[in-house]
Amino acid sequence: MCGIVGYIGPRDATPIILNGLKRLEYRGYDSAGIAVLQNGGFEVRRDAGKLHNLLNMVEDSPLSGKLGIGHTRWATHGEPNARNAHPHMGATGDVVLVHNGIVENYIKLREEMIAEGIEFKSDTDSEIIVHLVESYLSTGVKLEEAARSALSHLKGHHGVVMASSKEPDKIVAARIGNAGGVVIGFGENEMFIASDMPAILEHTREVVFLESQQIATITKDGAEINTLEGEKVEFSVDSVSWDPISAEKGEYRHFMQKEIHEQIRSLTDTISGRVDFETGKIILPQLNLTEEFANKIERIVIVACGTAAYAAMVGKVLIEKIARIPVEVDIASEFRYRDPIINENTVVMAISQSGETADTLAAMAEGKSRGATLWSIVNVIGSQAMRISDGVIPMQSGPEIGVASTKAYTAPLIDQYLLAILLADLRGVLSEEERIEMVNELRSVPDLADQILGREEQYKKVALALKDTENCIYLGRGINMPTAYEGALKLKEISYIHAEGYPGGEMKHGPIALFDEDMPVIVIAPKDPWYEKMLSQIEQTKARNAPVIVLATDGDEQIPPLANQVMWIPETSWMLSPVFTVIPLQILAYHIAVLRGLDVDQPRNLAKSVTVE
Ligand code: AGP
Repeated sequence: MCGIVGYIGPRDATPIILNGLKRLEYRGYDSAGIAVLQNGGFEVRRDAGKLHNLLNMVEDSPLSGKLGIGHTRWATHGEPNARNAHPHMGATGDVVLVHNGIVENYIKLREEMIAEGIEFKSDTDSEIIVHLVESYLSTGVKLEEAARSALSHLKGHHGVVMASSKEPDKIVAARIGNAGGVVIGFGENEMFIASDMPAILEHTREVVFLESQQIATITKDGAEINTLEGEKVEFSVDSVSWDPISAEKGEYRHFMQKEIHEQIRSLTDTISGRVDFETGKIILPQLNLTEEFANKIERIVIVACGTAAYAAMVGKVLIEKIARIPVEVDIASEFRYRDPIINENTVVMAISQSGETADTLAAMAEGKSRGATLWSIVNVIGSQAMRISDGVIPMQSGPEIGVASTKAYTAPLIDQYLLAILLADLRGVLSEEERIEMVNELRSVPDLADQILGREEQYKKVALALKDTENCIYLGRGINMPTAYEGALKLKEISYIHAEGYPGGEMKHGPIALFDEDMPVIVIAPKDPWYEKMLSQIEQTKARNAPVIVLATDGDEQIPPLANQVMWIPETSWMLSPVFTVIPLQILAYHIAVLRGLDVDQPRNLAKSVTVE
């Protein structure tokens, strides 16, 4: 969850690290810090709160040097105050360390250290690691050796980066388990380290991702990677295609706003090169799917969290309808502890923007251990989910920085539509004409998204009406039931309005008791196979005097007399409709949060990648 940046080379490390932290602030923003090697010793600046506090501190009290590490924190152990901010230093002041993860056995280790007379300067679990490193260094070994020994004491998943003023030519970085991705960037006589690509994209796209149980010694001229057991690792440097500009806000006020608008491009990229409009064939080479295996699949279990899980619910409808394969959607944190029934003819498919979500990775591991084939739909290139999968559909969304996921919701909807058609084709359950027709529906996707984004002012009017509400209900049904969940999640996470998504048909089984003039109800009622049912739900809502806002298809004459406000969308195929029904709801949540004066990109208590349980 925390963001890490490191630099070693001929340039001043301070601006490189601070700029990198700016690009990682979405990973955690309750405190931040930097340590730079200056005149043979480490200078450290740390402060609570958002990064601008640290930036002000560095401006008042500058620091400069050719080696440095920085951190932006999402607190797990210890309050989000300055003393708990990273980097941490040990007793000697020679070693600085930043950490992403949780030391699961920290209470025991801390007690042992306190008994040995070690004084702790923070309440964090991370400080333990720096003391362990120092204690091994005192035996005369090199930093990488001390790090390896220290890390062997830790339980849990970790990304760790450290440096010592006594060995000023290197930074040591390690990864243990699933959390704490560590990417090493290669420059010209300079090297970069980060928890995530956007931090270093402006400097290099030549990278190596550390695998679990690997430790790297990084000098300005390159890196040496070993396993934690000390075996040398041969590695090759990857070139990533992400464009540094796409990790910038550009003309937009917030990343979320930019990412909502980027959906035209993200959806275009999701389709292009993957379909043949003439033959209706689907091309997903990284899925490694053969006709033989497609015909063996008995069940697909999609594991995911949050927004990704709602995308999975749409996928269930699509895959079952088109490919006739049973699909279950499992919230990853539940799946892993439920003794699930999985066999070698089950596919466990993860959906994840970050590819780092601890619960999703653990669910994948659970599936693998029970013999399933692992697939994933993942955005972050080189992420753990991508690497452990037997087959991958890479999302084509580019960096998503806003904590509220938007373009990484709509892209996997299309990915799953493609997957469903491919499976149906390989299993012979779709005629050529049907396939060509379905594939050709995709032609209009970018244009429809563009039309909807052009209606921002219309949706903003609804935001003005709803900005002061304290509660809100979203109703959807069938393929748009997940749209109700996702619309409500967007609203609650960035505007702090209590919002619930509900299946339309369930309303009468309880939630209707809440309906009155103070409970706005947003009804998702495009012209899909569930439309008639939604109409009667609108009637029932109206009868309880709840303000009704309906998301409806252009030209629908039945809705306006029933609704207080209408959010119009163009006509679409019902199977693709969730791509378009959600965009107005993203825009609505965005404008409500802006009107309430909230920090859209960094909502309280949240982090972009949830790498802890
Ligand atoms: C989305 O707006 C949320 N911030 C959150 O629910 C997110 O989708 C979830 O944590 C899963 O993340 P992932 O896609 O990176 O696995």
